[in-house]
Amino acid sequence: MSDKYTPVPDDKFSFGIWTVGWAAQDVFGPATRAPMPADRAVHKLAEIGAYGVNFHDNDVFDFDDPETVRDAKIAAFRKALDATGLKVTTATTNLFSHPIFKDGAFTHNDRDVRRFALAKVMRNLDLAAELGAGVYVCWGGREGAESGGAKNIQAALDRMKEAFDILGAYVTDQGYDTRFAIEPKPNEPRGHILLPTVGHALAFINELEYSDRVGVNPEIGHEEMAGLDYAAGIRQALWHGKLFHIDLNGQTGPRYDQDLRFGAGNVGGAFWAVDAIEEGIANGQYSGPIHFDFKPPRTEDDDGVWVAAAACMRNYKILRDKVHTFRSDPRVREALEAARVDQLTVPTLAKGETWASIKDLTVDVAGLAARGMAFERLDQLALEHLYGVG
Ligand code: GCO
Ligand code: MN
Ligand code: MN
Repeated sequence: MSDKYTPVPDDKFSFGIWTVGWAAQDVFGPATRAPMPADRAVHKLAEIGAYGVNFHDNDVFDFDDPETVRDAKIAAFRKALDATGLKVTTATTNLFSHPIFKDGAFTHNDRDVRRFALAKVMRNLDLAAELGAGVYVCWGGREGAESGGAKNIQAALDRMKEAFDILGAYVTDQGYDTRFAIEPKPNEPRGHILLPTVGHALAFINELEYSDRVGVNPEIGHEEMAGLDYAAGIRQALWHGKLFHIDLNGQTGPRYDQDLRFGAGNVGGAFWAVDAIEEGIANGQYSGPIHFDFKPPRTEDDDGVWVAAAACMRNYKILRDKVHTFRSDPRVREALEAARVDQLTVPTLAKGETWASIKDLTVDVAGLAARGMAFERLDQLALEHLYGVG
């Protein structure tokens, strides 16, 4: 059965191959599902209405595969892409699974590991460019430490900058139009991860040689693990012109990285995230895929995997609908006006004014202080739209 929430490729939904492909091994037990070859994931994702995929090099071939096996696996992946019309929107490197990366990659204390990691990325950047991925995600999974003395943070940031400067030079020299998207995360698998939040990443990007090519890939779960408001992070990234990609999933407050399907967990947060993303799209500030990075829980069999994947897309479309009806509701327009939300777009100084114009200002202090902001009415309207009675 299909309805208006059924996903179609025009919705530009994409998934990491590793999301539906996760065999559900965790620290307490082995896999509960069979390994999923990348070409099967591609076929199934196309079947349920996705538009594209993101992949780590080692989602397609194994770390230790000899060249011939690597080539055969890439060929099977390509064949599935050609057969289904699914796009490779994004690519990334696995710099965290193999024991060589136990202390990270770009910021490993061992220089040989850092050099090897960069070579691994460059090789996959070639494949990414061949497959048409415009964005290259960089998640610093193990770039960090468990204890204060183990990592010289300033030196690690120097090495992290060096890595992005080398990779920026590489793609420039190759003539690729690749843009990098740094994915912040506060912890897990390390006790502390470098560039833990959107804000840290945005500040870091300013220091880079090829900063125009580098933006962020905020993930709902990661910002919420740090107790932050994801929608506000999306909006600040848009403000900086740095929203290059998004990782959508679900999370219930600061705890381990739950990677629930999008729309589960913090439902209100998901509503405001869609509101922010849709505004970015409408303003031409975000044109990337609507990307999901979730993990079907370990309890699910293969059917459950596809139910959860389809639900990510369905929930986005449901929330998009709700956001649109909220924004076009005349009562909401009135409530926004009562809350003077539009007045924040007016510069604080009028044209021609300077600090001197307001230095000796007097205002009606008691009157202004007594004025209510009327935010509760506005937020209740949002909730009623969300609850389906708006
Ligand atoms: C995580 C991360 C990863 C990255 C992926 C892309 O917490 O496991 O979100 O899923 O997004 O490795 O680089
Ligand atoms: Mn995650
Ligand atoms: Mn992610």
